Amino acid sequence: MKIVPVVNINGLLVDIEDAKISVFDRGFLYGDSIYEVTRTYNRIPVLLDEHLDRLWYSAERLSIPMIHSRELIKNEINKTLVKLNQDDAYIRVIITRGEGEIGLDPNLSTNNNLIIITKHLKGYPSWWYEDGVTLITAQIMRNPKNATDPSIKSGNYLNNVMAMTEASKQKAFDAIMLNQQGFVTEGTCSNIWIIKDGVINTPPLHAGILDGITKQQLLKLIKERGLKASELNFTPDDIKNSDECFMSSSTREIVPVKSLDGVTIGTGKPGIITKQLMSLYKNSTRAMTVPK
Ligand code: PDD
Repeated sequence: MKIVPVVNINGLLVDIEDAKISVFDRGFLYGDSIYEVTRTYNRIPVLLDEHLDRLWYSAERLSIPMIHSRELIKNEINKTLVKLNQDDAYIRVIITRGEGEIGLDPNLSTNNNLIIITKHLKGYPSWWYEDGVTLITAQIMRNPKNATDPSIKSGNYLNNVMAMTEASKQKAFDAIMLNQQGFVTEGTCSNIWIIKDGVINTPPLHAGILDGITKQQLLKLIKERGLKASELNFTPDDIKNSDECFMSSSTREIVPVKSLDGVTIGTGKPGIITKQLMSLYKNSTRAMTVPK
């Protein structure tokens, strides 16, 4: 039986055929919106407070006034999840600046739309985790920090869509994007990590990346375990010469990478430290979501 997504628009649970937003919504017209994605285990959202903190950060950076309280958003998420009635769920919370006369002036709309999409998370193909995935270096650059700063999780993902299009044309799983200095930033929807001589490294915030919640949690776990972590710039060649490489995100968690631009990384199989981090992260999220 197919499990249908459950959508909440401004507090109303709607059937998916009726889950529609106005063509005058600025999210549709300009990508003038912000969003967050997380998942549940045992019906409990993973690191929801951290995601909501980032939602507020994105709103502030884009001067989108938050007319919904944190409590209200949490209640609406719960209400939507209850209706979905699944242990493992994907949750997407979107806030658009709302509808108004067509025009760039943000004051043309004062009424945000709050949309929550939940769906059953079946899990991803096991080969991603057992064999690792392939990446390419995209020709398209990551937006510079002084343009649409990648640390803002906005609805404007065209840059990433263009990079993903390159990956798809080359039959790769995903693409990494570089910044104007030629350093690696991130994948189209995940952060990226390399491991060399036992040091686990991910690009610094100033490279122009999303400050991933999974990344923050992983850095915490790595430090707690006494493993060596750093946040230093690196290049595609550093990835090719690394011992291990992986990507991180809330929904996919840790995905090992086996090659970049056709060059095998390490042994071409998920590395020992990557596997250790996969299980560390898994245990930490399961521990956070034990039903009371
Ligand atoms: N993507 N970088 C980008 C560009 C992302 O879109 C994401 C998340 C990440 C990882 O962030 P986090 O660990 O907080 O999920 C990094 C989500 C999953 C998405 O858009 O579906």
